[in-house]
Amino acid sequence: MTSKRGWRISSLFGGSSEKKGNNKMANVNRQWILVKRPVGDIKPGDLELQENPMPVPGDGQALVRNIYLSLDPTNRIWMSDMDQYMPPVEVGDVMRGGTLGVVEVSNSDAVQVGDIVLGGMGWEDYFVAPGEMLNALPKDTGIPLTGFLSGIGMTGLTAYFGLLDIGQPKEGETLVVSAAAGAVGSIVGQIGKIKGCHVVGIAGSDDKCAWITKDLGFDAAINYKTENVLERLGTLCPNGIDIYFENVGGEILDAVLTHLNKFARVPLCGLISQYNSTDPVPGPYMFQNFLMKSALLKGFIVVDYLDRWQEGLMELGTWHAEGKLQYKVDVHQGLENAPEVVKKLFTGDHDGKLLIQISPEP
Ligand SMILES: NC(=O)c1ccc[n+]([C@@H]2O[C@H](COP(=O)([O-])OP(=O)(O)OC[C@H]3O[C@@H](n4cnc5c(N)ncnc54)[C@H](OP(=O)(O)O)[C@@H]3O)[C@@H](O)[C@H]2O)c1
Repeated sequence: MTSKRGWRISSLFGGSSEKKGNNKMANVNRQWILVKRPVGDIKPGDLELQENPMPVPGDGQALVRNIYLSLDPTNRIWMSDMDQYMPPVEVGDVMRGGTLGVVEVSNSDAVQVGDIVLGGMGWEDYFVAPGEMLNALPKDTGIPLTGFLSGIGMTGLTAYFGLLDIGQPKEGETLVVSAAAGAVGSIVGQIGKIKGCHVVGIAGSDDKCAWITKDLGFDAAINYKTENVLERLGTLCPNGIDIYFENVGGEILDAVLTHLNKFARVPLCGLISQYNSTDPVPGPYMFQNFLMKSALLKGFIVVDYLDRWQEGLMELGTWHAEGKLQYKVDVHQGLENAPEVVKKLFTGDHDGKLLIQISPEP
């Protein structure tokens, strides 16, 4: 189901048969190359913007112009050579990253010129791939293109499967989510409300806390930078915590584990507080509570649910259309800015799903 360049999800989106286009193309393809594995934070010189020749599509292939690049915390994992869920980006290779683009030339029956496709996996202007490895988006959905890289895309699916499949929320239960105003966390909390949970979000600013409570309907929020998380959880979760959707790790994880209920579930989605660590990270001090509370901890990667993505996208899209699910995008201009912008994920200095616009929408 995978290719060197991306994930094949053809079952979600139909293809079409019109062939060949004749768009004018630039003759240079800018590509960010990983030239050095970062130590700690990403630094100037870890990546290099190179101008390479335009790729030329062969038989059965299509040329795609990237429009949006998704910036994700996992980009930092891929830059490292730690043991991880897919091979790291090799030094000297194009930096990996999910993209949405438009087909400019097609020598394939699977996609036609003008199709908007997912399936790009590089920090670059253009790429070539077999047509059947591209996933043409449905037309006239009313969803902005950026939505397919955020709430009605991989981000939404991460929240959906992690919470529903592992968290198993039930009406009246208490759900806590960290990085709660972020791309995944904000969707988790809203699905928790749809399922009738008491939802408490943990986020890094008063503005973020206000957004998730006032606009998204979370019951309460904790600013972990200014409040005592352990104490506030005790106050805001008087019946204990049944589900903890884990995005960050570290001290926040220990504070939540302290308040776990019997048979609690902890979907382990991410551990962003440690992605830039240069030293070994200590385990959670309250790990014992998984034993004491007969609690479940389960890590997952969204692609584990590849065969159920259609189900997830349909339900997310329906909730969105019904006005029950909102998402925010924070779009920055210019491929050349990707290495600086991606660092915002680790400072929290962004407002919604972080994207780079590489080229104009058609
Ligand atoms: N398992 C999967 O398949 C999968 C898929 C997608 C994402 N993820 C994981 O989900 C998590 C959220 O990803 P996202 O794409 O939605 O990004 P995001 O939440 O939009 O952005 C990351 C946020 O993490 C918070 N953060 C950064 N450093 C932190 C620290 N040291 N302590 C506490 N919070 C910190 C910041 O929010 P504040 O301003 O609130 O601090 C920042 O805005 C990440 O751990 C990511 O790796 C997993």
